[in-house]
Amino acid sequence: MKNRLRRLRVSEQMRSLVRENRVQTEDLIYPIFVIEGENIKNPVESMPGICQYSVDRLEEEMDRVKESGVLGVLLFGIPKHKDEVGSEAYREHGVVQEAVRYIKKNYPDILVIVDVCLCEYTSHGHCGLIADGKILNDETLPLLAKMSVSLADAGADIIAPSDMMDGRVGFIREKLDGAGFFDIPIMAYSAKFASAYYSPFRDAAHSAPGFGDRKTYQMDCANGREAMREIEADIWEGADMIMVKPALAYLDVVKEASLRFKLPLVTYNVSGEYALVKAAAEKGFIDEKRIVMENMTAMKRAGANIIITYHALDVAEWLKESLS
Ligand code: PBG
Ligand code: ZN
Repeated sequence: MKNRLRRLRVSEQMRSLVRENRVQTEDLIYPIFVIEGENIKNPVESMPGICQYSVDRLEEEMDRVKESGVLGVLLFGIPKHKDEVGSEAYREHGVVQEAVRYIKKNYPDILVIVDVCLCEYTSHGHCGLIADGKILNDETLPLLAKMSVSLADAGADIIAPSDMMDGRVGFIREKLDGAGFFDIPIMAYSAKFASAYYSPFRDAAHSAPGFGDRKTYQMDCANGREAMREIEADIWEGADMIMVKPALAYLDVVKEASLRFKLPLVTYNVSGEYALVKAAAEKGFIDEKRIVMENMTAMKRAGANIIITYHALDVAEWLKESLS
């Protein structure tokens, strides 16, 4: 009697029968960059296929989302004016607040997730307040909470803090509850690493730090065990969903988190990961569709429940094709 693993690979039907993981459109979240101003659709050079849109041009992109069947979008804002304290981040009529209102009015069934962080709104480009060249922790928390409440007021469905200040999940939870937003979940960027894979995003969102780097608040890429402490802390503080970011170079962290924690687990397939695939595909070095689907499957296999990805609309399209 011999074990022959190839018996289960003889045909597509047989392989499909024993397939352990599948990517579904419902797993995906699509990030969108909203820029203040009028009649703007700016392609992001390092991210082929991705553009910044002004609110009055969002319709085009949102129609594609609706058509795709993707359930949610993640919004980032690019304000006209930046200052030391990121005032535009928590202004009632700030760019993301307006985008949220527009989407919830015209596409009420699409989940609107908002990234909460100051770096796109501060003149220095850091995710928190600054004094003497240092990024302040506790002083930043009220501003993040103010931003969260202001976005919830505008109609956001999920608050996603990405700043990596200690204690922000608990602080934001308390202020959301205080404002009556008991039912708005927090998707915490829990294990967010200081990564070179964010650089295309920083072009897209105009959010590169003006001095230094983010290594005093984002995690050291060498630390997998510490990532478990970060996630644990966010769970204790009341996070409803946890995230590992970036995704592909950190699938060991995704795997361990999926085994250890029972909350919905999100992974963010970031801008640099997208840019690498798009650049190689444009050169004809790889087959884009097969590479992307393999990457998506790898994230699911590692244990991710939800994938934030710039490929979302393409993946949704390919999944439809494969059914027809
Ligand atoms: C803001 C934020 C960043 C990303 C998501 N939220 C950039 C950063 O931390 O510098 C990165 C997303 C991507 O690269 O696609 N803090
Ligand atoms: Zn930031």
